[in-house]
Amino acid sequence: MSPLIVLFLLNIIAFSCSAEPCVVSDFDDVENATKQCSDIVFDNLYVPAGITLKLNLTKGASVKFKGNTTFGFTNWLGPLVTINGTGLNVQGDEGAIFDGQGQLYWDGLGGPGSEKPQFFTIEAFHSTFSNIKVINTPIDCVQVTNAINVTLSDWIIDDSAGDPGVAPEGQEGINTDGFDVWNSTDVVIKDSVVYNQDDCVAVRCGANVYVANMYCHGTHGLSISVGFSNTSVPLNTLSNVTFADSILVNSDNGIHIKTHRDGGYGSITNVTYRNITISTIHKYGIEIQENYPDINGEPRNNVPIVDLKMVNITGSVEKNAVPVFIRCADGGCADWKWSGVDITGQKSDQCNFNPEGYTC
Ligand SMILES: *[C@@H]1O[C@H](CO)[C@@H](O)[C@H](O)[C@H]1NC(C)=O
Ligand SMILES: *[C@@H]1O[C@H](CO)[C@@H](O)[C@H](O)[C@H]1NC(C)=O
Ligand SMILES: *[C@@H]1O[C@H](CO)[C@@H](O)[C@H](O)[C@H]1NC(C)=O
Ligand SMILES: *[C@@H]1O[C@H](CO)[C@@H](O)[C@H](O)[C@H]1NC(C)=O
Ligand SMILES: *[C@@H]1O[C@H](CO)[C@@H](O)[C@H](O)[C@H]1NC(C)=O
Ligand SMILES: *[C@@H]1O[C@H](CO)[C@@H](O)[C@H](O)[C@H]1NC(C)=O
Ligand SMILES: *[C@@H]1O[C@H](CO)[C@@H](O)[C@H](O)[C@H]1NC(C)=O
Ligand SMILES: *[C@@H]1O[C@H](CO)[C@@H](O)[C@H](O)[C@H]1NC(C)=O
Ligand SMILES: *[C@@H]1O[C@H](CO)[C@@H](O)[C@H](O)[C@H]1NC(C)=O
Ligand SMILES: *[C@@H]1O[C@H](CO)[C@@H](O)[C@H](O)[C@H]1NC(C)=O
Ligand SMILES: *[C@@H]1O[C@H](CO)[C@@H](O)[C@H](O)[C@H]1NC(C)=O
Repeated sequence: MSPLIVLFLLNIIAFSCSAEPCVVSDFDDVENATKQCSDIVFDNLYVPAGITLKLNLTKGASVKFKGNTTFGFTNWLGPLVTINGTGLNVQGDEGAIFDGQGQLYWDGLGGPGSEKPQFFTIEAFHSTFSNIKVINTPIDCVQVTNAINVTLSDWIIDDSAGDPGVAPEGQEGINTDGFDVWNSTDVVIKDSVVYNQDDCVAVRCGANVYVANMYCHGTHGLSISVGFSNTSVPLNTLSNVTFADSILVNSDNGIHIKTHRDGGYGSITNVTYRNITISTIHKYGIEIQENYPDINGEPRNNVPIVDLKMVNITGSVEKNAVPVFIRCADGGCADWKWSGVDITGQKSDQCNFNPEGYTC
C-alpha cells in the first residue's frame, strides 16, 4: 500500500469509530471531522483570528462543545461560527463557554465603529441547539437564517461586562443583539437568558416563531423588525409569532415592533405577546412604530401590522419613560385585540391608534 493510502486509511480510522465520538481540539482537524464524523466533541477549541469555524455537518450529526471555545482577535465581520445541516443536535457541555472576548472589540459604537465579528450564523433544518453559554460577544450573537424547524433552548448570552457603568467609558458593547431570526419558519427560542445592549430577540421575517421563557436584562426588548429589504416582499413578511412568559429588566424597551419606513412592501400578521413582565424600563414599555428608524418621522404603511394581540403585559417603566407608544401610518394598523395590558409609569401613553381592549 502506498504511504498515501495508509495515511488516508489511518485518517478514516481516526475519525470513523462509530461508538466513540471524534474529539477535536486542533482547528486543523475540524474540516475532516465535520465530513467524516457524525458525533463530534470539540474540546477547548481555539479558532485562529479572522477564520470562520465552519461546521457544515452531516445529516443527523451530534456535536458537543467542551471547555472554553476561543477565537483569535482581529477586526473583521465574521461570523465566528457557521452551523449548517439537517437533523443536528448541537450542545454545550456542562460548564462549557464560548468566549468572544468582546472587551477587545467594544468601542461604544457597535456596528458603525471598528469591524467586529458576528458570532453564530445558524442555517439548519430540523435541528436543536441547546445548553450553550456565550460570553462577551463583539457584536450580535445568533443569526438564525433560512432555517426550518429549529429549536434553541437553554442558552445564556452574557454581555454584561459591556454594560454602561460596568465597561470603561467608550468601551461599552453596542448592537449586541441576542437572537435575530431571518427568513425562517418553525423556530423556537426558549428557556434562555440574555444580558446585552440591543434587542434580546429580534424577529425579522418568516413564519411560525415561538419565543418563550426568556429573561432579558439591559436589552432593547422582545422585538419585531420588518422592512429590511427594498425589493423582496417575502423578506418583508412575517406571520404567526408568539412571545410568551418572559421577563425584561433594566431595558430600553419591553416590547418593540418597528417597521422600516425606508424599506419595501410586506406585512406583519398574527403576532401575540402573552404574559410578559417588565421593570426598570428606560424608554418605552410597549413601543410600536411604523416610522423606524426615525421616531419623529412620518409613519408609512409599507408594512401594515394586522392582528396584533397583547395579553397580560404588566409591570412598570421609569419616570421619564412612556408606558405605551403607538405610531401607526394611515391604514397601517388593523385588528389589534389587547387584554390585561397594565403598565404603570408617570408619563402618559402616546398613541395615534387605539387597540380594542386598551385605552391609551
Ligand atoms: C483530511 O483528510 C484527507 C483525506 O481524507 C487527508 O489527506 C488530510 O491529510 C486530512 N487533513 C488533516 C488535517 O488531517
Ligand atoms: C455541506 O454538507 C452537505 C451535506 O453533507 C454537502 O452536500 C455540501 O456539499 C457541503 N457543502 C460544502 C460547501 O462543503
Ligand atoms: C477563555 O480562553 C481565553 C483565551 O485563552 C481567555 O482569555 C479567557 O479568559 C478564557 N475564558 C474563560 C471564561 O475562562
Ligand atoms: C451555510 O450557512 C451559511 C450562512 O448561514 C451560508 O452562507 C452557506 O451557504 C451555507 N453552506 C452550506 C454548505 O449550506
Ligand atoms: C422538527 O425537528 C425535530 C428534531 O429537532 C424532529 O423530531 C421533528 O420531526 C421535526 N418536525 C418536522 C415537522 O419535520
Ligand atoms: C429563505 O429560506 C428558505 C428555506 O431555507 C430558502 O429556500 C430560501 O431560498 C430563502 N430565501 C432567501 C431570499 O434567502
Ligand atoms: C433602501 O432604500 C433606501 C432609500 O432609497 C436606502 O436609504 C436604503 O439604504 C435601502 N436599503 C437597502 C437595504 O438597500
Ligand atoms: C400560520 O398558522 C396557521 C395556523 O396554524 C397556518 O395555517 C398557516 O399556514 C401559518 N402561516 C404560515 C405562513 O406558515
Ligand atoms: C396565529 O399564530 C399562532 C402561532 O403563533 C397559531 O397558533 C394560530 O393558529 C395562528 N392564527 C392564524 C389565524 O393563523
Ligand atoms: C408567566 O410567565 C412566568 C415567567 O415569567 C411563568 O413563571 C408563569 O408560569 C407564566 N404564567 C402562565 C399563566 O403561563
Ligand atoms: C393572565 O393573568 C391572569 C391574572 O393574573 C391569570 O389568571 C391568567 O392565567 C394569565 N393568562 C396568561 C395567558 O398568562
